[in-house]
Amino acid sequence: MPADDAAASAAVRHRTQVGIVGAGPAGLFLSHLLARAGIDSIVLEDRSRDYVESRIRAGVLEQGSVDLLNAAGLGARMGREGLAHAGIEIRFEGRGHRIDFLALTGKAITVYGQHELVKDLIAARLAEGRPLHFDVSDVAVAGFDGDSPSIRYREDGETHEIACDFIAGCDGFHGICRPSVPAGVLALYERSYPFAWMGILAEAPPASKELIYAHHERGFALLSMRSPTLSRLYVQCGPEDDVAAWPDERIWDELQRRTATSDGAFRVPQGAVLQKGVTPMRSFVAEPMQCGRLFLAGDAAHIVPPTGAKGMNLAMADVHYLTQALVARYRSGSMDLLDGYSARCLRRVWKAQRFSWWMTTMLHRHPEDSPFDRRRQLAELDYLTGSEAAMRVLAENYVGLPLE
Ligand code: APR
Ligand code: PHB
Repeated sequence: MPADDAAASAAVRHRTQVGIVGAGPAGLFLSHLLARAGIDSIVLEDRSRDYVESRIRAGVLEQGSVDLLNAAGLGARMGREGLAHAGIEIRFEGRGHRIDFLALTGKAITVYGQHELVKDLIAARLAEGRPLHFDVSDVAVAGFDGDSPSIRYREDGETHEIACDFIAGCDGFHGICRPSVPAGVLALYERSYPFAWMGILAEAPPASKELIYAHHERGFALLSMRSPTLSRLYVQCGPEDDVAAWPDERIWDELQRRTATSDGAFRVPQGAVLQKGVTPMRSFVAEPMQCGRLFLAGDAAHIVPPTGAKGMNLAMADVHYLTQALVARYRSGSMDLLDGYSARCLRRVWKAQRFSWWMTTMLHRHPEDSPFDRRRQLAELDYLTGSEAAMRVLAENYVGLPLE
């Protein structure tokens, strides 16, 4: 028997309709939506449950994402613990300017940590007794260019193989699904930025009821939150900076300086720093988001810089569309929505890319900027906060473009 056949026959065999790689928001939410539509899936995650449940990531849900979660029966804890915000503040040259989302668009956002959502999704999946495997290794996808896709992985010292109809690559930017697509199929579009964010989670009440995005000579700062007693705070730093270069005192000092108001009255409440980390800034899109029977969703297909708070929402929109397409395929045999999956997602993805790039370039200090660029940047902020039309453009994008 050839070596490959021997290895295949040694594998423990499974069968499902959709094999899902990755238990982040994209993979978990997809598995939940599919289950509600009567479609079976198996979710594979190479990290531990504890790791994915405690990893601090994004925190802003668009109104459309909240609506999707509620419609899927996942809104209970988010409804109790999530913080509904009707606007944000843009602060520059010592003054704050509120952008009133509710008045401008009729919509709001909800601040709810991504890891809290991940906990809810995992709890729902396990409560229903549906397959979700943590701590697997050596995940490999194959056969998606033909009719019999499969996923191999190792778990507890054994090799397993899942035969499935479709594979969902929800394994994030560093996953294996996108790199498994044959060379030449995907076009990759990328932009890196000459800065990053140093972020902390602090045991301190939020500085204000809503998020504050601050533009300052010394660099950008963002005051966000996770609860009435937990603040999530960021300062612009160098792209290569590590946490060692940013002791707590330096972070607090920069936060205070960059968010100070002209009247000297504003202070960021300080407290114990519970977590600290660097968030890189990157824009990235892989096109198309599919290859045969492999469909990419979320960070596996695209990354946005966090300034527009779009990452988690794009992941949810992708899997909403993917679910609609898979449901159509299983109910009527029609491949039309699956064939159009990538094009449908990418129209939204590129608009979110544009918005995230715009927010990022408008609000950060660019090391290479000339005095002309500085003046233009301040004029842009002045125009934005003085024009209802401009504020509405920001608001409409921030609360989320409509989902079909
Ligand atoms: N096998 C199995 N799982 C994998 C593999 C692999 N080879 N590689 C990565 N994973 C897992 C990761 O451990 C992670 O839990 O896939 C999951 C991908 O989840 P996310 O990175 O959270 O991506 P996604 O679900 O698309 O959610 C996007 O995450 O980074 C944020 O800002 C982003 O909010 C956005 C959200
Ligand atoms: C966060 O709370 O982590 C957060 C909020 C808004 C952003 C980015 C991150 O734009």
